[in-house]
Amino acid sequence: MTQTTAIPQFEKFAIGFDARDKARVMQYWDEILSGGRWTEGDFTKRFEDRWSQWNGLPSVALSSWAGGAMACMEYFQLRGKNVLCPTNTFMATPLAITKGGADVIFGDCNREDLCLSVEAVQKAAAEQNIAAVWLVHIGGHLAFDTERIAAFCAQKGIVLLEDCAHAHGASWNGRRPGAFGDAGVYSFYATKTVSTGEGGMLVSRHPALIEFARQFRNYGKFEYAVAGLNYRMSEFTAALGLVQAERMEEITAWKNDVARRYLDPKFTERVHLPDGMISGYYKYIVFEPIEPSTGKVYDQLCHQIMRQGGSFPNAEWVAQHHWCAPLYYRPTIG
Ligand SMILES: Cc1ncc(COP(=O)(O)O)c(C=O)c1O
Repeated sequence: MTQTTAIPQFEKFAIGFDARDKARVMQYWDEILSGGRWTEGDFTKRFEDRWSQWNGLPSVALSSWAGGAMACMEYFQLRGKNVLCPTNTFMATPLAITKGGADVIFGDCNREDLCLSVEAVQKAAAEQNIAAVWLVHIGGHLAFDTERIAAFCAQKGIVLLEDCAHAHGASWNGRRPGAFGDAGVYSFYATKTVSTGEGGMLVSRHPALIEFARQFRNYGKFEYAVAGLNYRMSEFTAALGLVQAERMEEITAWKNDVARRYLDPKFTERVHLPDGMISGYYKYIVFEPIEPSTGKVYDQLCHQIMRQGGSFPNAEWVAQHHWCAPLYYRPTIG
């Protein structure tokens, strides 16, 4: 890797987009501008199909992660029930639970991966009769307890929803985020590993949920059996998403290469991935103060923001003891 300045290029902020793709995005946008369909068209379908090719599951494109989350809450009829999520997550996760009419129950994480622990799920099932779990894959790797949580939820009849907002490009022994539970929802918000500015993707092995989400994003058209709102993705966004989905594996392979060559040798106190797991490296997380750093994934715990009680010692430890090393996609450097 040739460094043109004293600061390694991967430390400078960049949106996860490859400048070589600009011409193709412009060509697609030109086609859309000249054609008669600015929404609900072929690019939405092509983006979904390309996402499914990577993810291995049927996919529905939406205007944001939130639209997919609300579709899951409605489809699994979680209104009035208890739903678990980790306290160290973005407020989107607990807010989707409360906006979906359910009561949010917070759980603790593991220190090693920052993600919800199987013990937290078992405790909430035993003490609080949870109907569903939102498992958040924090930082771009999969939660280390994903398989154990999935097995426990399947055994107890608890719905397992995966918050895949950070998990683009990740896998564990070839299985992709969203494939362990009943559904997974991705975000394409501007800073994500690959982005469309705004956008989301719901994936699920349940064909009925996929069909429900298609109606939910579109006011229930045309049978109006589903009471959704407008969570559609425009054709302009979908065209960008298609290009991004095609480039995603290259982006995450590049980030993994930089991580192995430059960051791993520098940081021994970091998230150590289990065998067979590939991270998309939305964040490169270390457990010691570093310079430069992009700060924390989350330093405020959601149960505190929402003024709920409870003791979450691992989440509190994690909030204080992790930092993120900058790792941005800049393919011109290597
Ligand atoms: C963990 C997590 N869940 C959900 C979301 C919400 O995604 P969106 O803004 O696309 O609704 C985010 C966005 O940053 C997130 O980090």
